[in-house]
Amino acid sequence: MSNRKEIHDRVLNAADKEELMAAYKEWADKYDTDLIDEMGYVAPVIAGKLLLKYIKGPAVEILDAGCGTGLVGAFLSENGCSNITGLDYSQEMLTQAKGKDVYQALIQSDLTQAMDIAGNTYDAVISVGTFTSGHVGPEALGELVRITKPGGCICFTVRESAWTEDNYQNEIEKIEKNKGWKLLEEQTTDYIQQEGSTCKVCLFQVSG
Ligand SMILES: C[S@@+](CC[C@H](N)C(=O)[O-])C[C@H]1O[C@@H](n2cnc3c(N)ncnc32)[C@H](O)[C@@H]1O
Repeated sequence: MSNRKEIHDRVLNAADKEELMAAYKEWADKYDTDLIDEMGYVAPVIAGKLLLKYIKGPAVEILDAGCGTGLVGAFLSENGCSNITGLDYSQEMLTQAKGKDVYQALIQSDLTQAMDIAGNTYDAVISVGTFTSGHVGPEALGELVRITKPGGCICFTVRESAWTEDNYQNEIEKIEKNKGWKLLEEQTTDYIQQEGSTCKVCLFQVSG
């Protein structure tokens, strides 16, 4: 098994947060080359393009939740966004993200816990590759709704296998029933081309 496949399997099958963070610590400096150049990870660009359809102007305050090394931030920055905060639990991934110089702020925080971020803070939240096996589950979506301004957008990917296994539909409908958000777009698209995986890409508008 190549090192690339081995580390990717480790992150997807991590038993707990400690194992996951240990794997990202090892992977951080090779992550971009492995995933983009070798594996064909296309989700950051697909989700980034979807978000760009719904936001207006460079000053829009965006949170990149689970920013990793900053692939999504780099894409949004190249496309004119100039007010992006990156958030991740892995210090080593945040260090890589800092090096890209596309984030106005970086926060180390755990998406599975109540976060130290005031309600209604961001105009838009994007999260790519983070709602997936061994990472963050649908229970974390409510916290993203809380920190997004009414009328703001939340765009996120979910690896297709996790979508079914973790019953995302159930959590999404719960938030809809509580009038937390409404669905504007949902697509099924390529995720990592070399492994033939797909993901859901969802875009919700937070209710006013
Ligand atoms: C597959 S990477 C995606 C990174 C980036 N968004 C991208 O598309 O390249 C998943 C990221 O989620 C982060 N992560 C995993 N669990 C987390 C948690 N509980 N809170 C915050 N970040 C977490 C990892 O550290 C990692 O950087």
